[in-house]
Amino acid sequence: MSSQPFQTTQAATPPATSTFPGRDLISIRDLSPIEIETIFHLAGLLKARPSNFRTALAGKQMVMFFEKQSLRTRLTFEAGMASMGGNAFFMDQTAGRLDAREKLSDIAHNVERWVDAIVLRTYTHGTVEGMAEHACIPVINALSDLEHPCQALADYFTLLERFGDLKKICLAYVGDGNNVAHSLLLTAATLGSRIRVATPEGYGCDAQIVADARDLAQQTGAVIEILNDPNQAVDGADAVYTDAWTSMGHEHEEQVRNQIFPPYQVNEKLVAGAAPHAVFMHCLPAHRGMEITDAIMDCDRSVVFDQAESRLHVQKAILLLLLGGKVGRSNSRSANG
Ligand code: CP
Ligand code: NVA
Repeated sequence: MSSQPFQTTQAATPPATSTFPGRDLISIRDLSPIEIETIFHLAGLLKARPSNFRTALAGKQMVMFFEKQSLRTRLTFEAGMASMGGNAFFMDQTAGRLDAREKLSDIAHNVERWVDAIVLRTYTHGTVEGMAEHACIPVINALSDLEHPCQALADYFTLLERFGDLKKICLAYVGDGNNVAHSLLLTAATLGSRIRVATPEGYGCDAQIVADARDLAQQTGAVIEILNDPNQAVDGADAVYTDAWTSMGHEHEEQVRNQIFPPYQVNEKLVAGAAPHAVFMHCLPAHRGMEITDAIMDCDRSVVFDQAESRLHVQKAILLLLLGGKVGRSNSRSANG
């Protein structure tokens, strides 16, 4: 794709914008620590001064192929693109897999001639990788069975706003070792943070993801703790996170899972072991009364809707960086967000 370097004022220039244009975002493993900091810095600018970016992606177009349902991801990508002057086209693939009608490579070679980016939500992570391999435009993973990178970036942006220094906090993830857990693990590892993941036996994280997180942690000073005991995970934690016991694509396992996961419910008893200032997190949609109770979801230390808002700012930053977006005027001049 043709891309212009990201342009903004000197004072507000994010640290490392030049490495992004034309790239894919398939996994958190695609990002260096400085690149995640750049996304966060730009997300902060976008949140504070959205009006400065109204034409940043003027003329840019993206297509979104979703094999699974979505509220947050779809709307934040569509609203985010529109708010920067670009267009998004939604292709509902929930009735059939993306590559059922024609080869993935043929789809890629069509789409790359029409639009500037592809956003994918798939059952199989390999579909996202395959699209990225064949399409010469940026491909963004909007959730696969293996990872949910945009979610984890939004979550750590939320924690950054709340706590300031991510190296000093401990996030406890309690529940299924799924796509969200994987991306949280890799983000914590990349950023040098502490994360504990507690899952039932047999529902742990992917072994390669854990190995990669441990490798990253050696370089960044992150602390990765893989556990089975939810109380041990939550002990003194600054944030307690959970997600659905049954992810999309695993519905046939729901009855069995509902018998195994109750000790992992995030409720008042479990979070009593966390730090007194601890925040409670969920990527949503929540299954109230299952993995999280109403009392936790609705309490004043719940940040679940801050996380949902962060999706918008972080994904706008990702789009700007990968599409080489242009900022129309100084970020420091106007306070009219
Ligand atoms: N958290 C999240 O990705 O929500 P949706 O499934 O609604 O997009
Ligand atoms: N782990 C969940 C996340 C939904 C946003 C799923 O994949 O269904």
